[in-house]
Amino acid sequence: NSTRKIIIAIDGFSSCGKSTMAKDLARAIGYIYIDSGAMYRAVTLYCIKNGLFTNGEINIPELELRIKDIHISFKLDEKTNLPQTYLNGENVEEEIRTMEVSSKVSRVSAIDFVREALVNQQQEMGKEKGIVMDGRDIGTTVFPESELKIFVTASPEIRALRRYDEMVAKGMEVKFEEILKNVKDRDYQDQNREVSPLKRAADAILLDNSLLTVDEQKDWLLQQFEKATQTS
Ligand code: DC
Repeated sequence: NSTRKIIIAIDGFSSCGKSTMAKDLARAIGYIYIDSGAMYRAVTLYCIKNGLFTNGEINIPELELRIKDIHISFKLDEKTNLPQTYLNGENVEEEIRTMEVSSKVSRVSAIDFVREALVNQQQEMGKEKGIVMDGRDIGTTVFPESELKIFVTASPEIRALRRYDEMVAKGMEVKFEEILKNVKDRDYQDQNREVSPLKRAADAILLDNSLLTVDEQKDWLLQQFEKATQTS
């Protein structure tokens, strides 16, 4: 039945264009897009704003007490139609993309009770299906039964260059070398953390998009979607 709604899990390394792909796909097929990385970033921003970091170290007992008070939601911007991340009712879409958050988020996302809380929220968001969720553990942990799983990779240099271009376009002052280092550090931490490390699910389809344009990726994804909905 081609009208049956499914869950699409898109996992992969940081800055490999997952969110652009997932967002475009969701729009094209009328699904809801959920950026799970934005949720880990929002918790990180909460920690920064509430003084839970001291010399780069996070106050874990304090965060555990407060985790139930951290509410994350998504709303589409009325003008641009782009999804915006809200932290306790405040739009934090821009703030969660800064280098400060990027450099601290791996530490926050390695904490077991943070993952547990966010995974529960993500599973709740997927209850009605009809969603595209991107992240690191969507196909392995959040929705191991999802009907379509994609695992995206691209070389670290290409990913760093894409993020650099993105930030420069936004008028941010950044150094390429710093971004490349951040990309590589996060790859290492994402793959080597104890809880839910980044790993390709056995049944995920691999996509190396180093040399693909956004349009080529979109066509490829639509084909995978057609196949998955026809056969499942
Ligand atoms: O996709 P991103 O770069 O916005 O993700 C931010 C961080 O959150 C990244 O370092 C890995 C982590 N993350 C995670 O651990 N699990 C997810 N499902 C999504 C992101």
